[in-house]
Formats: sequence, structure tokens, C-alpha cells
Amino acid sequence: MAGCTLMAHRGLNTLAPENTISAFQAALDNGINWIETDVDALGDGTPIIIHDTSLDRTTNRAGSYYDLTAADLLQLDAGSWFSPQFAGEPVPTLRQLVQFMNEKGLNANIEIKSNEQGKKETLRLIDNIIAELEELNPARKVIISSFNHVLLHIFKQRAPKLPVGCLYETVALYDDWKSMLELVGADYLHPEDNFLTAERVKEIHQAGFGINVWTVDDPGRANQLANWGVEGIISNVANTLMGITGAESEK
Ligand code: G3P
Ligand code: MG
Repeated sequence: MAGCTLMAHRGLNTLAPENTISAFQAALDNGINWIETDVDALGDGTPIIIHDTSLDRTTNRAGSYYDLTAADLLQLDAGSWFSPQFAGEPVPTLRQLVQFMNEKGLNANIEIKSNEQGKKETLRLIDNIIAELEELNPARKVIISSFNHVLLHIFKQRAPKLPVGCLYETVALYDDWKSMLELVGADYLHPEDNFLTAERVKEIHQAGFGINVWTVDDPGRANQLANWGVEGIISNVANTLMGITGAESEK
């Protein structure tokens, strides 16, 4: 079945440190032109590419980045924790990702992390992301996703032309999902893979929404989901799923 798009989760994170330009390049080098990535903001409002709310796990520095500015990024090393080969790898800004997407023909499912500083900083993050995405080449494709559906609703109101997807953990996928997606103005539902059924996939499609499933690393399961007709699969090992039925990197 054609049309199931493979997305490299945080870039191709088994071959290069997650959420770095090297991980995004690794996806492209392996024929995958969609990545999933995570965005939050520094203290000065600069949107950056990072998964955790602290710097501890994926950089050479500890603590929060909510008190850092763009100048501090020069001191961060987001590669050494992964391998000495990637020493000095920067934490990318969203602006750098957009430039990379334009230069290389990469598409992105951009997950907005639920900023923990409150309303003012969350609204600033939304506006700064929209401003950065205005520089995207129109040929590039983007989906904006988040577990924070209130944030996503505000994002959709401020940027109605950009497709958005509501992220759901299985335990939170309550029976009001259709109402939630319609209230948000969402285009996609991004369900966790665990316990996702063919029946639920059919219901979501019948309600008019696309489906991108996370995080699928088993080839058999990826094949099954592709045959159920899901639009996308987000995987840590997207490079190993290229040959399965239906799942491919969308051109
Ligand atoms: O976008 C899907 C997936 O990335 C959500 O979980 O924690 O890996 O960002 P997480
Ligand atoms: Mg994510």
C-alpha cells in the first residue's frame, strides 16, 4: 500500500545524536526525507531543537535551558554524550533547521514541547515558531504536533494554513478524541503505537483525520500499520523499515 510516510524520530538517532543536524543528515543519507523533531525555547525566546526540558542527558551541560540565551548555544556540545565522533555537535536552533530543510529538501513533523514557564512564554514560543516557519520554502512539508492541545489550538488559530496533529499517549486517548481534534482544528491524530487497533484507525480516518503513529521500530508492526492505511510511521530505526510493504520515504 503506497503512501505511508516514514519519519525518522529525532532524526536517525541510532546513527547520530538525536535532534542534531547530523541526525537529520543521516536520515537523508538513508533515503528518509521526513524527520520528527522536538522544539522548546531558550530564556530569550529562541526556539531550539531539543527533547528534554533539561540539558543533562543530551549535552555537556546540566540544568535548565530556560535561563540561557542564544549566545550560550556556542558552549553546548550535543554530540559527545553519543560518541566522540560527534564532539562539538551544536544544539540546533529552529532557524538552522529551517535553513537545512530548505537546502536539503527535508520535511519535518515538528513537535512543540509543552513549555513549562507559563502562558507568556508559551505564547512567545508559538509566535516565534510561526515566524521561523515563514522562511520555509513552499515546497517543504511540515506538520506541527504537540501533546499540549491547548497550545496546538492557539497555534492553529494563529497559523491556520499549517497542518497540526494532536499527540496522544494510549492511556490518554479517551473517547472524546474527535471532539478534541475538531476543537483544536487538527488535521492529524498522532497516536502511540501500543494497543492501537485497526478499528480505531478506521474510526479516525472516517472522522476525517490523518494518522501518524509513534514510535514503531518493529518491521512486522510497521507493515501491519501501513496495511491499515496510516499516513505515517515515526521510527527510531526508519532506515530498517524502508523495504517493508507500503512504508516509504515520501518524495
Ligand atoms: O512525536 C512523537 C514522539 O516524539 C512523542 O514522544 O517523547 O519521543 O517526543 P517523544
Ligand atoms: Mg517528539
